[in-house]
Amino acid sequence: MKEQLKAIEERAQAAISSAADLRSLDDLRVKLLGKKGELTAILKQMGKLSAEERPVMGQMANQVRSTLEDMLTERTEILRQAAQNARIQAESLDVTAPGKKPPMGRLHPLQIVEDEVREIFLGMGFSVADGPEVEYDYYNFEALNLPPDHPARDTQDTFYITDKILLRTQTSSVQVHVMEHQKPPIRVISPGRVYRSDAVDATHSPLFHQIEGLVVDKGITMADLKGTLELLMQRLYGEDCKIRLRPHHFPFTEPSAEVDVMCFACHGKGCRMCKNEGYIELLGAGMVHPKVLEGCGIDSSVYSGFAFGLGLERIVMRRYQISDMRLLFENDMRFLEQYR
Ligand code: DAH
Repeated sequence: MKEQLKAIEERAQAAISSAADLRSLDDLRVKLLGKKGELTAILKQMGKLSAEERPVMGQMANQVRSTLEDMLTERTEILRQAAQNARIQAESLDVTAPGKKPPMGRLHPLQIVEDEVREIFLGMGFSVADGPEVEYDYYNFEALNLPPDHPARDTQDTFYITDKILLRTQTSSVQVHVMEHQKPPIRVISPGRVYRSDAVDATHSPLFHQIEGLVVDKGITMADLKGTLELLMQRLYGEDCKIRLRPHHFPFTEPSAEVDVMCFACHGKGCRMCKNEGYIELLGAGMVHPKVLEGCGIDSSVYSGFAFGLGLERIVMRRYQISDMRLLFENDMRFLEQYR
């Protein structure tokens, strides 16, 4: 029995000093000193001993018990301290460490150029008008002299919500909203998203952006239109920027023109970017059709006006020498980060 007690003490000593955490120490306590513990098991055998041996063994057993208790208490204290130190370490805050900088983001190239165009026009006394992207057929087509069966509608197929409501194909719809609510003199631009059911390629997207312009007053002529657009292009692309007006047809202007800017990629020679034209079509323009003025309650014998609609993507692509429109919509930060 003496040997058994000795053995227990030795084993316990090793186990206690190698216990790695408070939980395993607690398990040990139960295993050694608990009701079903090793020491208790030995004490239960006391009855078999002689009357002389009993007190001696009893004393020894009590000594072992108190030694184990002391060891457990001591180890508990060590482990508790270690756990606390570990927690303090983990929760420590280095107030001298450099701060984490959240990524700031930046303006999209489309927004950068839109803001620039806005500024140029604000400088010329224009104001900015807004209009709905989900639009009535009336504003997008009919009021712009495109009645239901007009063939020009075919080139601007779009997404229909109902027969009468659609996603606007052009910001020209805003012209009508403005003229319904404002009497001349009118000088507005209206930037925004437009939609067409076009397939995606290097120069087409079903969603793109236009900036509409409208000026209505007494005595407005095509010379005002040309001067305004020339100034815009020179501000955007530099004093030496060349533009070209080509006769064209739009139902809501008469006469109408398409305005081209010399291709940035080939400088007029012809390349993939400009489809061998040497020039890139940037916008449509013209003198507001009398029917459109009259439809909005403006007397076309007193007032005249010009309008234009430019494709923002094309301007951005020319400005930054971007050859594929898809890059503007993929939101790849490696691409977008290059522009400020
Ligand atoms: N809305 C036309 C388009 O999307 C562009 C346009 C042409 C706008 C002539 C105008 C204009 O204001 O006068 O193709």
